[in-house]
Amino acid sequence: MTDNAAPKRLFVKTWGCQMNVYDSARMADVLAPLGYAPTQTPEDADMVILNTCHIREKASEKLFSELGRLRAAKEATGGRMVLAVAGCVAQAEGAEITARAPYVDIVLGPQSYHRLPEMVARATRAAGQVIETDFPAEDKFDHLPEVSAPQGPIAFLTIQEGCDKFCSFCVVPYTRGSEYSRPAAAVIAEAGRLVAQGAREIALLGQNVNAYHGEGPDGASWGLGRLLREIAGIEGLARLRYTTSHPRDMDDDLIAAHGEIPALMPFLHLPVQSGSDRVLKAMNRGHTASDFLRIVERLRGVRPDLALSSDFIAGHPGETEDDHQATLHLIERVGFAQAFSFKYSPRPGTPAAGAPLQVTEAEKDRRLQEIQELLRQQQHAFNRSRLGLRFDVLFTGPGRHPGQAAGRSPWLQPVHAATGTQSPAALAGQVLACEVVSAHPNSLAVRILDGKRSGDPPEQEKAAA
Ligand code: SAH
Ligand code: SF4
Ligand code: F3S
Repeated sequence: MTDNAAPKRLFVKTWGCQMNVYDSARMADVLAPLGYAPTQTPEDADMVILNTCHIREKASEKLFSELGRLRAAKEATGGRMVLAVAGCVAQAEGAEITARAPYVDIVLGPQSYHRLPEMVARATRAAGQVIETDFPAEDKFDHLPEVSAPQGPIAFLTIQEGCDKFCSFCVVPYTRGSEYSRPAAAVIAEAGRLVAQGAREIALLGQNVNAYHGEGPDGASWGLGRLLREIAGIEGLARLRYTTSHPRDMDDDLIAAHGEIPALMPFLHLPVQSGSDRVLKAMNRGHTASDFLRIVERLRGVRPDLALSSDFIAGHPGETEDDHQATLHLIERVGFAQAFSFKYSPRPGTPAAGAPLQVTEAEKDRRLQEIQELLRQQQHAFNRSRLGLRFDVLFTGPGRHPGQAAGRSPWLQPVHAATGTQSPAALAGQVLACEVVSAHPNSLAVRILDGKRSGDPPEQEKAAA
């Protein structure tokens, strides 16, 4: 072992979306050859990475309060701890971070993660802050090592990054850069490795995952539908999902794929933001409320058990009471299994932040509460509608209580089951037929049906035979 690779402890804290979770794992991968291994607390770490999110105001506030705490931890190490800020706040506010927190050693944007080892070397060699927030010319994915750490039965895989859509309210096009799709062959190879490491479910990730247009092995441009069909064929993979999608990119082939690929789970997160055409236009979403309803209808046409999730924003500039009512109306028309809703948060540098007719905080609060109340009722109704149903559950590991295993339904609902004589940990990675015995607001309790297995990987079937 070279001096360079002496064991060191790495603590990574992650905020924001699933892509940040994926990125945090990749940063750990890229640092592993330098001797960094994960640790559970920042206090005993040689290096701390804060992987940040810039999507709403509170997100960046959290960074600065965390940095305040870490400053003391760093001082306790005699200043040896390497402190790095990554992610979307780093990209958007690099200069502010270095100015407000001079004890931060490294600031790096999402497109520079492959450069981390070199940045660590620079930061530990010379005193002074190391900053990388340009969008590098080379492709990050070509320079990152292969995925190393097994992620467990549910794995995430970034296939697309960035966004060219410039919704009025959103920072993502500025923090993640322009749309980029990884070549299909690289994605398929990574999916294969994840399955070989024990993944039974893969969620393909992208800020606009259905805008995917990667180069296929045949040299043609592949859409997401084509890629899903290919990945679904990987032996041992039981489930596929993709997130987050834009209504504008739900093309015919992708909709058809929902009817054709059994492994593609009947649950889709499709953010609509508003039910008012006026607001959708002001948001620069590029679709109307009825376009969205039509997509939902077509999806349910090919996959009748498909359930939907979405994102909503309450109080975008210019939103009137009528617009708000239109959003409630759209929610009622669709009936969501689950959804996220947010108060509009003005983000520096985005068109909506400077727009006239900002909605008051009190009004935003009231509208958000009404949206959330309706969505809450729909979620409960959806969970109750599963009572008595039988379906496959992917178990992920022990549940909260002894003798209990946790897993996910096809609709991504958290599920728990009593395992009887079996150890809950031993069920991890198994897909078992279950029956719902009780429905809760945020989860389902299920009974495993006679240990009957459904869709186990071939080796396990052979072993059991
Ligand atoms: N790419 C996805 C969403 C990315 S951001 C899409 O196009 O839909 C995730 C969610 O955060 C968005 O769907 C939106 O509902 C919310 N969001 C983004 N910017 C916001 C802002 N300025 N204020 C409030 N919510 C916001
Ligand atoms: Fe943001 Fe709109 Fe792009 Fe989604 S599509 S990431 S909301 S700009
Ligand atoms: Fe947040 Fe960046 Fe994801 S702003 S939601 S971490 S793309």
